[in-house]
Amino acid sequence: MTLGAPMSAARLPDFVELDADLAARTTLALPGRAALLATIRSIDQLRQVRALTADGRRRFILGSGSNIVLTGDFDGLLLQPAFSGRQLIGEDADAWYIRAGAGENWHALVHWTLEQGWPGLENLALIPGSVGAAPVQNIGAYGLELSDRFLSLETFDLATGRLRRLDRAECRFAYRDSIFKQQGWHLEGRQVIINVTFRLPRAWQPLTGYADLASELDRRQLASPTARQVAEAVMAIRQRKLPDPTRLPNAGSFFQNPLMSAADADQLAQKHPSLPRYPQPDGRVKLAAAWLIEHSGWKGQDLGPVGMYEKQALVLVNRGGARGADVIALTQAVQASVRQRFGIELTPEPVIL
Ligand code: EPU
Repeated sequence: MTLGAPMSAARLPDFVELDADLAARTTLALPGRAALLATIRSIDQLRQVRALTADGRRRFILGSGSNIVLTGDFDGLLLQPAFSGRQLIGEDADAWYIRAGAGENWHALVHWTLEQGWPGLENLALIPGSVGAAPVQNIGAYGLELSDRFLSLETFDLATGRLRRLDRAECRFAYRDSIFKQQGWHLEGRQVIINVTFRLPRAWQPLTGYADLASELDRRQLASPTARQVAEAVMAIRQRKLPDPTRLPNAGSFFQNPLMSAADADQLAQKHPSLPRYPQPDGRVKLAAAWLIEHSGWKGQDLGPVGMYEKQALVLVNRGGARGADVIALTQAVQASVRQRFGIELTPEPVIL
């Protein structure tokens, strides 16, 4: 600990752990310790945390650890929001409104809404992580993003000690991005997301445009699938392609899919005709980072104890005993190969701490 007076366990509230081991709390399973780790279940605890960091001690919000690369020990205070509860808070002629605590498990929420007969989140089944982390990177899969079903969220501002409600526009959602990724917001431990409210429209249609999902539904001979059938198909695809972090530690997609102008994408496609291109509503084109990595020779390749997964080149896996520096070395090696071959800069998707 570098800031403030040394803490003794005796002076700490019981929800704050001293010198906490983080390896088991993150899905990449990299070694690291936090000087202080607070598991937060109430606003009152957040107020106590405010006091604990009044000396300027560094803060960071951990979420459930499924999208983070630990590069070593953290000398400040890590916050792990564990607000629980999920409920239907209202309904009208158009939609159901569901609120869930930031500490709830994301997939459990999806599963529960489907069981209750409220469709809309099925394409996001089986994404690891917590409800509170979902808006930070605007989780997305199989043609749907969290922002498509989002109404609002509540935060506690550790700088002012006030609760605040943000609607969809205020969250500034974009592809794997939101206001919470900006300097001084969530990640630096200022705005703690307490709960998220979803709007699930009654006028429901399955979203089956994503190629992988369409072919899985075809294979199951489901021309008009129910929401639960879509969720089952999504889960089957994910289980086939993405490694289970409890068996092979990973943080999901390790790089963002790069976005570029249509003109630049066309130029690249002339040189590489099989390059997958996905036109976006804003006129830009998204490329498949997995394809770029595979065609730079990294699919199934290791560098030390880490590698790019053999069934999905975008997933970086820890084959055992890796440290943060190993992950950074592979990140840079993959970036260099893709830059050299395609002139494209890949951006890591997880947060590097
Ligand atoms: N591809 C390859 N090689 C591979 C894998 C894929 O060339 O090893 C190409 C194929 O052309 C494929 C295309 O890449 O059609 C896209 O692959 P995939 O459908 O598996 O999706 P992705 O772009 O790799 C994104 C998200 C995933 C999400 C899937 C499904 C990002 C960074 N990743 O992956 O999200 O589950 O689409 O919608 O946007 C995550 O963010 O952690 C995550 C897993």
